[in-house]
Amino acid sequence: MKVTAVLLAAGQGTRMKSNLPKVLHPVAGKPMIWHALEAIKQSTTEKPVVVVGHGAEQAIEYLGDSAQTVMQEPQLGTGHAVMQAESLLKGNTDLVVVCYADMPLLRGETLQKLTDLQRANQCAISMLTVVADDPRGFGRIVRNEDGGVQAIVEDYVATPEQKLIKELNVGGYCFDANWLWGALGRIPKNPKKGEYYLTDLIEIAVSDGLSVQAMVMDDIQETIGVNTRVHLAEVESAMRARVNQQHMLNGVTMIDPASTYIEAGVTIGKDTVVMPNTYIHGKTEIGEANVIGPNSIIRDSKIGARCKVFSSVMEGAVLDDDVDIGPFARLRKGAHLGNHVHMGNFGEVKDSYLADGVKMGHFSYIGNAQIGANTNIGAGTITCNYDGEKKHPTEIGENVFIGSDTMLVAPLKIGRNSRTGAGAVVTKNVPDDTLVVGMPARAIKKIAKS
Ligand code: UD1
Ligand code: CA
Repeated sequence: MKVTAVLLAAGQGTRMKSNLPKVLHPVAGKPMIWHALEAIKQSTTEKPVVVVGHGAEQAIEYLGDSAQTVMQEPQLGTGHAVMQAESLLKGNTDLVVVCYADMPLLRGETLQKLTDLQRANQCAISMLTVVADDPRGFGRIVRNEDGGVQAIVEDYVATPEQKLIKELNVGGYCFDANWLWGALGRIPKNPKKGEYYLTDLIEIAVSDGLSVQAMVMDDIQETIGVNTRVHLAEVESAMRARVNQQHMLNGVTMIDPASTYIEAGVTIGKDTVVMPNTYIHGKTEIGEANVIGPNSIIRDSKIGARCKVFSSVMEGAVLDDDVDIGPFARLRKGAHLGNHVHMGNFGEVKDSYLADGVKMGHFSYIGNAQIGANTNIGAGTITCNYDGEKKHPTEIGENVFIGSDTMLVAPLKIGRNSRTGAGAVVTKNVPDDTLVVGMPARAIKKIAKS
């Protein structure tokens, strides 16, 4: 059986008061529509269709080939939005799952249950409802004396009596495709707003003598739709709690989940501890038994096992195993620290590889450099990698001792087992086993091999 999702994302989202289309506003670091696309994957068999309109260019660019898109212009309501998908889908699918792209908390399992219900008991419409005290402006579900779903009444047209109804329309439907294509054209134009409401399909099915089945959800949180930035913050905090809970269930310790900010899609291995006030963003992979934070920011980075990242910032960086950095270390794009590297306070590393066992304790800048194993970088060392126009490389061999406050004027090579004196300004390549001192540093003697 072919099942295709249609996600409605064409509305203006006026109440967001934003230049960004509503469905591109991020929740846990990913646009709302990403969450909707993730959720519908599980229960559908075909590529989803996204109805775009307001801010279509940005939406289409974001979606790439993750979805087919159809244009709704002008935007004449949710029913009209689904009509735009008809020419693409008619004859190509058995079931159509329709969701609003502004409900990022709706779970894949919920939509799976809904489509399972429709498969098991085929009728015109299977839909999601929820019973809640706060109506949040949702459509109310009108049932007949036998309990059958009769209609959805939108909030702004509901009578005072209907407003008291506690069963609400969540905005997730599974339609029998054949019936849907015949029914869409029969949605009446709403006299007040001139729109075509998808919710009117319920009455149309009932008047066709067909049944509509409702699946009543028990998690109210899942049903929150984002119409304003107040809702956005509410959804953000719920999503964060959900993401954190999943990590904890996978074996990650969090001292204070409420102050731990992890974006959707980040992976963390078991026995890693995430301390408070830590932000982990983007495409980040963290292995087992690390201690991350407190007060750290990690983006698009990879961390092996048993590392310590203490009050530090990593962006596009890699740590192998048993590395410890911080407090106040900054690793930028292309920084790669090998096993057992130690990087202390106020260091910065960019586009550089520090091989196993390198020690860099205090106040240094290392850029465009390769540093050999077990080399010691003294306090205040700078790779002078930029001449105002170009970046130049620095290569330092194994077991080198760079004295405090050394300026390494790139391009530069320093051979293995060499040493620089404190305050040296090194402008020329240094051979292996050599001590250099002064400004500019000059060779003064050959070091006896130990
Ligand atoms: C809708 C439902 C309401 C339900 C609520 C749940 C209708 C008429 N009402 O109301 O019963 O309780 O969701 O959150 O369906 N959209 C388009 N094209 C349009 C209009 C809207 O693509 O012409 C998209 C929007 O981008 C949005 C979604 O449809 O993603 C829902 O539209 P919205 O205006 O937010 O509907 P609600 O008023 O929340
Ligand atoms: Ca909405």
